[in-house]
Amino acid sequence: MNDDVRKYIYGTLTVFVVGVLVWVGFLFVNACGFTLTCNRGQPAVDRTPIPTLLPATLPVMQDTAHNAAAPNECRVAAVDLIGAWVEVGSPETDVFQFVDASGQNCESTFDEVRSLLIEGNQWYTGSLACVSCHSVDVAVSPAQLDLSTYAGIMAGSRRADAESTGTDILSAGKWDSSLLYEFISTSKADVPGHAEIKSDLLIFAGTPLPAPDPRATPSPVVEATPTPTP
Ligand code: HEC
Repeated sequence: MNDDVRKYIYGTLTVFVVGVLVWVGFLFVNACGFTLTCNRGQPAVDRTPIPTLLPATLPVMQDTAHNAAAPNECRVAAVDLIGAWVEVGSPETDVFQFVDASGQNCESTFDEVRSLLIEGNQWYTGSLACVSCHSVDVAVSPAQLDLSTYAGIMAGSRRADAESTGTDILSAGKWDSSLLYEFISTSKADVPGHAEIKSDLLIFAGTPLPAPDPRATPSPVVEATPTPTP
């Protein structure tokens, strides 16, 4: 009786173990065939197998919309570009000249100044466009300043209404003492939209002026070699 029970238990265990082995073997052969070098069960490679930890040698790109610009553009601090425009009397259509960060003579127009004011992402990654606050409706615009149009910039800040002019933010062409310069060159932590502005941000803008033609300068007169006197 005891032996019978034992037989049943061992029999069942054996059948179970053999069954498991057969099942596992079936799964393996089903997936891999008759080979021992099968790696289908390994976790999938979720990264590129090519080593990517090569030392980076390229200069860091500045993350601004202006990086898409053509390489033959000038590179200048945004604040200097606007400054050059203000210093020559802030022309609406005429070209103005400026010297870029590498000392190159360049020219630009108000259009490029304007895009710094009306486009987002110009002053730091994710920066708001100036006009998202200083918009056309002076009744709601902070400092009653409309930066969306040439006329709005000229009309200045602290305007009573759309018809009147206010404080000249360009300080009559004296860039260094203008309100515009102050508000884009110094970070104002307590003014929304002005805390993170980076005044030294370099952008691509303008077109280089052709270098002076070397043929225009008279070449030095070649003097005849004097005959040596004996
Ligand atoms: C998030 C909204 C916001 C953004 C974006 C913003 N500003 Fe302002 N700006 C303000 C506020 C608020 C003031 C202070 C208003 C006050 O003192 O009553 C101000 C003040 C100014 C002033 C001073 C005007 C004065 O008479 O005191 C100038 C100039 C100015 N901003 C220019 C700019 C320029 C240029 C940009 C874009 C680079 C810009 N702002 C982006 C909100 C903003």
